[in-house]
Amino acid sequence: MSTTTDRYVRVATLTEVQTTGSLVVAIEGYTLGLFSQGDKIYAVDNRCPHMGFPLHRGTVKDCILTCDWHHARFDLASGGTFDAWADDVRSFPVLIRQAEVWVDLTPQTEPQAHLHQGLRRVASSNLLRGVFDAAMSIYLDRYLNIPPARLPDPADTVENPDLLLKELPDLLDRQQQVNAAGKLVARYLYSGGKPERLLAMLGKLLLREDRDFHTIQEVEAAFRQYSLLRETPAGVPVLIAVARYLAAHAPTMRSQGQIYEMATRLHRGDRVFEDT
Ligand code: FES
Repeated sequence: MSTTTDRYVRVATLTEVQTTGSLVVAIEGYTLGLFSQGDKIYAVDNRCPHMGFPLHRGTVKDCILTCDWHHARFDLASGGTFDAWADDVRSFPVLIRQAEVWVDLTPQTEPQAHLHQGLRRVASSNLLRGVFDAAMSIYLDRYLNIPPARLPDPADTVENPDLLLKELPDLLDRQQQVNAAGKLVARYLYSGGKPERLLAMLGKLLLREDRDFHTIQEVEAAFRQYSLLRETPAGVPVLIAVARYLAAHAPTMRSQGQIYEMATRLHRGDRVFEDT
């Protein structure tokens, strides 16, 4: 028996997995999702890397596993995700021996450790910044639909910044106002506008759109970032980025408010769907 084979651990019988199509197994501190596809068995970490839903409750078609919660999709063989907002799930090598399923549970080197080593070896931090900048540009432009733009000029100020703030909702009633929204926020802050009022307005603009979990998460992350940076010049671009992000996704149908209103009425016992 080879050394590689020695690392494999028996986790189930072939029949157990094939009968149900998927099986969850807890072994040696791992919780594995086992999936039967054709004559093959696949094993992945059963915890969805997105928000932890048990993956054995997902659906599988053509070796693509779809999580039942937010529908992130994973290639069963490699664990690679098809969705930019989810991470890859760990997949485990599988062997079938005498009608039994064996899985290689050898611990992986943590990706953070690879990254840390890479950073320590890098010859030039400027080169690293360049690579990071390029990667972020592609991510923002391609996945978040936010085109790159120069930061607005700090000298571009107005007497009454509160008037500017009042213009922001109208701006986000129209499509393709990413740069205009960023510019408005910059002028507001450079003109001495109160960040608290801007944060409140940005929150309001988020809530009036149809938003999903990820939109809320992005804005919340920026607010947190701003709470750390607020007294420094680096805080301004964070709020410019929030405004640009919201503008890139506005306006939506704004129908979620109706849904919540309907839910409230149903909760109160109103006969919403009955003929009068
Ligand atoms: S928890 Fe699986 S997709 Fe969100």
